Amino acid sequence: MLAIPEEIRSALFLGAEPHPLLGKWPGIVGWQPLKPLATAWEKAGFTRVDEVAAAKWPLVLVLPGKSRDEALAWFAMARDRLEPGGKLLVAMPNTAGAGRFEKELTKATDTINSLQKHKCRAFHATDDGTWNEEIFAEWRALGKLREISGFTVQAGIFSSDHIDPGSQLLADHLPAHLRGHVADLGAGWGFLSDAVLHRCPNIERLDIYEADSRALACARANLSVHQREITYHWHDVVTGLSETYDAIIMNPPFHTGQATDVDLGRAFLKVATAALKRGGKLLLVANRQLPYEAALEASGLAWRKIAEDRTYKILSADKRA
Ligand SMILES: C[S@@+](CC[C@H](N)C(=O)[O-])C[C@H]1O[C@@H](n2cnc3c(N)ncnc32)[C@H](O)[C@@H]1O
Repeated sequence: MLAIPEEIRSALFLGAEPHPLLGKWPGIVGWQPLKPLATAWEKAGFTRVDEVAAAKWPLVLVLPGKSRDEALAWFAMARDRLEPGGKLLVAMPNTAGAGRFEKELTKATDTINSLQKHKCRAFHATDDGTWNEEIFAEWRALGKLREISGFTVQAGIFSSDHIDPGSQLLADHLPAHLRGHVADLGAGWGFLSDAVLHRCPNIERLDIYEADSRALACARANLSVHQREITYHWHDVVTGLSETYDAIIMNPPFHTGQATDVDLGRAFLKVATAALKRGGKLLLVANRQLPYEAALEASGLAWRKIAEDRTYKILSADKRA
């Protein structure tokens, strides 16, 4: 807030997250592709947009994720929404490479101001008409849809530059007899969904749940080749599902094994267990060291490990009929 002149009372916030100090600003509009954060933003009473309109703002705030290409593409998106003379303000934790990104932005803006506190940096530049538009054009291109192995992806979403080897292992072990009403939880850009639709002709409907709206949009593009019934949900799986399923497939977030990620994975398992019909089947892939067997055991499912390699394991679990 120290970087923001008193007279500015409207802004666009890319990667919006709520903060009490922003409550003083009636004119702040947030864009947030991640559903749990989008919900938090709205619950705090702020205005949210699904798409960033082509309007211009005197101030654009940017709170990017960890992906390099995503952060730079967001700098370009911010630049495109800035009024002449407007201010672009970025905040990042040092662990996400704040220093490196500050240097990058300086390449384009020449002059930059930086504030450092709490292992984070806030850096900002004012559009004085001398910014290097060629650099912004390069960064703009980083945000465009791309292709890997024939699939559409975008910078910043999960596995945007490769097919996840864990998901590949699960795809290789999907049984062909999955049928009826099936869900893919945390479906990303649709790799597993594509595999299950190819493998299982008796799926009547596939429901895709994904928290990242950009990944969901890619999944729509990637799965449109299948002439099957598919529904798409921009949804925080942790909040539960309102339908029940004959089968659920998932590569739960995430592989790092950090405590919070394990909790998120466990929450996915709990929601999946609750959403299985009697006799329903859950198939999941996880890093070998993740303690999901105990969670399956506690949930009363009959489970077994059907495959593993040096890094991943595939667990299959049945809800007793
Ligand atoms: C390990 S990736 C798997 C992606 C995809 N199924 C694949 O196999 O390539 C986990 C996915 O879960 C999504 N995710 C994370 N938290 C979520 C949540 N609370 N609700 C729904 N999806 C979530 C992430 O955006 C990511 O796409």
